[in-house]
Amino acid sequence: MSVEKPQPVQHLADYRPWPFTLSQTRLDVTLAPRDTVVLTELDLEPSDLPVDLVLDGGAGLRLQSLRIDGLTVDPAHVLRDDETLTIRAAALPRVPFTLATDVRIDPQDNTAFEGLYLSGGIFCTQCEAEGFRHITFYPDRPDVMTTFRVTLRSDLPVLLSNGNPVRAQDGVAEWNDPWPKPAYLFALVAGNLVAVSDSFTTRSGRAVDLNVWVRPGDQDRAGFAMESLIKSMRWDEDVYGREYDLDVFNIVAVDDFNMGAMENKGLNIFNSKLVLASPDTATDGDYERIEAVIAHEYFHNWTGNRITCRDWFQLCLKEGLTVFRDQQFTSDLRSAAVKRIEDVQTLRARQFREDQGPLAHPPRPDRYEEINNFYTATVYEKGAEVIGMLKRLVGDDGYARALDLYFDRHDGDAATIEDWLKVFEDATGRDLAQFKRWYTDAGTPVLTLQETWQDGTLTLDFTQQTPPTPGQPDKLARVIPIAVGLIGPNGDEVAPTRVLEMTEDRQSFSFEGLGARPVASVLRGFSAPVMLQRQMDDATRAFLLAHDTDPFARWEAGRELALSALTQLARGADAGDDYITAIGALAGDAEADPAFRALCLNLPGEEEIATRLAATGTTPDPDAIHQARAGLARRIAMAHQDLLAELYDTMTVPGAYSPDADAAARRSLRIAALGLLGRIDGGDRAEVLFGIAGNMTERMAALAVLLRLGRGDSALRMLHDEFADNRLVMDKWFGIQVMAAPPSDAVAFAERLAARPDFDWKNPNRFRALLGGLAANHAGFHAADGSGYAFTADWLMRMDAVNPQIAARMSTAFETWPRYDAARRDHARNALERIASLAGLSRNTREMVSRMIA
Ligand code: PHE
Ligand code: ZN
Repeated sequence: MSVEKPQPVQHLADYRPWPFTLSQTRLDVTLAPRDTVVLTELDLEPSDLPVDLVLDGGAGLRLQSLRIDGLTVDPAHVLRDDETLTIRAAALPRVPFTLATDVRIDPQDNTAFEGLYLSGGIFCTQCEAEGFRHITFYPDRPDVMTTFRVTLRSDLPVLLSNGNPVRAQDGVAEWNDPWPKPAYLFALVAGNLVAVSDSFTTRSGRAVDLNVWVRPGDQDRAGFAMESLIKSMRWDEDVYGREYDLDVFNIVAVDDFNMGAMENKGLNIFNSKLVLASPDTATDGDYERIEAVIAHEYFHNWTGNRITCRDWFQLCLKEGLTVFRDQQFTSDLRSAAVKRIEDVQTLRARQFREDQGPLAHPPRPDRYEEINNFYTATVYEKGAEVIGMLKRLVGDDGYARALDLYFDRHDGDAATIEDWLKVFEDATGRDLAQFKRWYTDAGTPVLTLQETWQDGTLTLDFTQQTPPTPGQPDKLARVIPIAVGLIGPNGDEVAPTRVLEMTEDRQSFSFEGLGARPVASVLRGFSAPVMLQRQMDDATRAFLLAHDTDPFARWEAGRELALSALTQLARGADAGDDYITAIGALAGDAEADPAFRALCLNLPGEEEIATRLAATGTTPDPDAIHQARAGLARRIAMAHQDLLAELYDTMTVPGAYSPDADAAARRSLRIAALGLLGRIDGGDRAEVLFGIAGNMTERMAALAVLLRLGRGDSALRMLHDEFADNRLVMDKWFGIQVMAAPPSDAVAFAERLAARPDFDWKNPNRFRALLGGLAANHAGFHAADGSGYAFTADWLMRMDAVNPQIAARMSTAFETWPRYDAARRDHARNALERIASLAGLSRNTREMVSRMIA
């Protein structure tokens, strides 16, 4: 064991190309749990000037031999530290040479799930961002791209790697990947697996074998993933003109995985929760996510793999674009309006939250200590929003031309955000110098609107201001596309959507020649990721909720009504009548999409209410927020009980379960009604539904109602008896008990669950279910006595020694701590300082905690 030495901060400005050329990588891997042999051959060419060859490779690599063109390198010329292996220039030929290493590693001991590890008897790898250096010595950086030829040796029946299969017999499999790639896209899998198989013929006629590999017994839950893959392949051809480029595409599901899934070339590896689904085990939300993530990873084949990132500062180049593409895919397959609202909800819940606190950073950061800490909502979701704005500014045609140029110009490259913006400039003639600030500046701009009406002219006067973020006290004006339409007093649209381009700190736009004063519908479709501040009375909001033609803006009007009521209630004032009336009308509107009605009926969560309070200068009181929300839900239920009961009774879906958008929409409205009715019927409907529902969507919704009421015990027992050996269902079982618990019970429940023998905490999904469940119980996590913080800190410290990535990621539960009252802040700071002072704390968690208490 060696102690990790603090790594200096990495800076974007320090980028230098690698001084060697690597033309091929050959790996020969003999798999064994405790002693895997990795033989590596690198075909290298030195640059003109003599320089040392520095390879990445951690202390876990046991180096057996090091040869250049067959001859052992003189140890006097070799240097090793905890993170690198250096061969002195003096020992290197001045002509092309082959470097061969023999390295031994211990996959069984790998609890961090980075590099080569074992998950339930399956050997698998995770190499993004810097995992390959735990497999062998290598220039582990994304701008070093080369072809890979891989030989795998094992008695296990299925042996997979990237590219095309060359041969497989007698425990030896050979794979050849003809597409140059960086090491982070390398993968291998070996295990006792079975496949659900299909095939796809690309539009130029290439026949592709498709396999979704799962453990024996799981095949009947892998069909939806396969359908989703085929839809993704077709969509990328139809919409982006992008074809697949190998003879096989493999997906493998594993139970231990730090993230959602990984786009390794031709061999995507997935967290099993994003592959396996059946009506009795997965919710509609799970199905939608599986479809989206399968698409996301598949789309990376072009946006990420064929064109990759020059360095990790450019991460949003691949992630923002690929999220944007998977969002488009889901909009096309399902309801675009509903998808947009869901995406904005996620953005606000995760990214706005991040932007408001000590972890705020730009979509393209320019410094980091540990890159794994930057797989964030800002890089992913805000990265996608920035592309949505770009598309709005240059138009659909401009976007299509820019993307064609991007694929044309940069295929095979490791590219940058500058390259990306340049294709838009070249394809459309637009100057994007100011627009680039969206990539380099952190923080959510606050857009303030003042309106004046005079002589038939409506003037919208906007100011923009972005609050300071760590390291960026002052911000310059950004380009903000503001989509606006006008609604006349009779509810008709008098001006269709127009995109106003704001480029100054303060700017006015006028609409002339209007007969009567219209109501402006502003930021339609959420045309920019900003916070809009606008004085508007509840009657006008209710008017927009009734009449706006833009579905997002219509939903937003209802959301603002709800938030205005809830923030007043949380401050002890009386409010909510306008919202209750307006929401009743919408819920009863049989013309509207049931999913849309459900979205309008769901009250903002406690976290969102807290964020709104904090943004408007009030210290959020978690208990008051909980009470306010519960009270308003109860009043809605009382006011509309007949309508809600009717929706509950009629929004059933006849026939066999289907996860399609229409069926899921009806279920979502039904369970929204159930949730509200549960506030007044004592949970009787939920009790019945839990017992008879044939699908997990309704059962989980019913269970949440019962748990909130403290009467979930028998349902929990039933679920446990039925699914004790289904990990994914048991994850839900762990999570929901804490998430839906009355806040005063949440920590005690979490403690009790954590003591169970089946709390397999080293499994990332199980750990996230419990700790994430507590973090999602706003008033429970922020318990006034600090017990939620203390419990979380204890477990983060325990996890850090085993799996630093998971500990660091879960530490974001604390990222909002500065906004609470002094007593809570003291408790939170103590918890964070306790973590910070832990001996041997990982770089991952150390960076997170020190940014949070800076
Ligand atoms: N690149 C993966 C994705 O977004 C995410 C990931 C990052 C997975 C790091 C594992 C490790 O598709
Ligand atoms: Zn991705």
